[in-house]
Amino acid sequence: MKYLIVGGAGFIGSNLSAWLISQGNEIVIFDNLSRRGTEHNLAWLREHFSSCRFGNCDVRNYEELHDAYRQFQPFDVIVHLAAQVAVTTSVEDPRTDFEINAMGSFNMLETIRHCGDDPIFLFSSTNKVYGGMDHVKIVENESRYEYVDQPDGIDEQCPLDFHSPYGCSKGCADQYVRDYSRIYGLRTVVFRQSAIYGPRQFGVEDQGWAAWFSICAAKGNPLTIYGDGKQVRDLLWVEDLVAAYQKAVEHINTAKGHIFNIGGGVEKSISIWREFGPILEKEIGHAIPVSFADWRPGDQKVCIMNIEKAKKELGWEPKVGVEEGTAKLVQWVKENLSIL
Ligand SMILES: NC(=O)c1ccc[n+]([C@@H]2O[C@H](COP(=O)([O-])OP(=O)(O)OC[C@H]3O[C@@H](n4cnc5c(N)ncnc54)[C@H](O)[C@@H]3O)[C@@H](O)[C@H]2O)c1
Repeated sequence: MKYLIVGGAGFIGSNLSAWLISQGNEIVIFDNLSRRGTEHNLAWLREHFSSCRFGNCDVRNYEELHDAYRQFQPFDVIVHLAAQVAVTTSVEDPRTDFEINAMGSFNMLETIRHCGDDPIFLFSSTNKVYGGMDHVKIVENESRYEYVDQPDGIDEQCPLDFHSPYGCSKGCADQYVRDYSRIYGLRTVVFRQSAIYGPRQFGVEDQGWAAWFSICAAKGNPLTIYGDGKQVRDLLWVEDLVAAYQKAVEHINTAKGHIFNIGGGVEKSISIWREFGPILEKEIGHAIPVSFADWRPGDQKVCIMNIEKAKKELGWEPKVGVEEGTAKLVQWVKENLSIL
């Protein structure tokens, strides 16, 4: 099949592209290489997979996007990953965040509405569209916060409550992507993703925490934990996310027009320092000194996706446990310290 991966030089995009090419698919990447590290990801892809084609284009520019699309089409599947991904950056510059995440996604939809050959369109949304979930009761345990009444996590029926410019811009795109299926009959699927981790993630302090902690620990750099380190996330290994995208393509007649929560679920949930810290220390091989600072605004105490819908309707489930994933992540970080 022929895939267009928009934002394909990023963390998820480079892992997805590598896997798809290894399975015999044809790949075109669109990216403006704005994220630090993307030039390394693209060089790595080109070195290992010479068939990978690249268009340097910006999703904010409709004309440019449209022309680039026409040059490479037709496509069977579009995976739209290009985004401004950090909440704090979105607070500092909400206009740019809006232009990339909301308008850029809208431009993608309009491009395929006008010149697509009915490709499947997969969109990477975020669990942040559910906001602070203040109505959900939480209890504090020794090493983590936990839901009181949501043993399987938060499902897709949870009310939307966009919080932060990033939440608003991604949430806006999430709804457009879904609606373009209803209104124009496009074969779109929305994935509301939780924290994804894996190789090729150039984590920074406000995005990609598992990678950021691993990089700081491996380099011996200071590491600050905001809050008490008991906040819980359901980590998902990037290859498991890639498998979810693949399942949606295989089951597109069931998946089209739908939204799926995608994450590690309850089984792969972990508190970010009290429980993750010891696993990381074991892989790094020594104790990691950390300092604690105030909670960051909007930081959820628990965010665990209920992934039952994806399990049932796509036949997908995450396979890689947090210990195994952390070991692989740390190995990649240690081997790539010079570019991190
Ligand atoms: N990584 C996670 O934990 C996570 C969780 C939830 C949702 N997501 C979503 O998944 C997608 C991919 O995330 P990622 O972690 O791979 O991030 P990333 O920053 O590594 O990848 C995003 C890519 O988009 C490109 N890009 C940014 N602005 C662009 C523009 N204007 N035009 C063209 N390309 C542009 C960047 O250069 C980068 O290669 C994003 O949409 C993100 O919101 C990620």
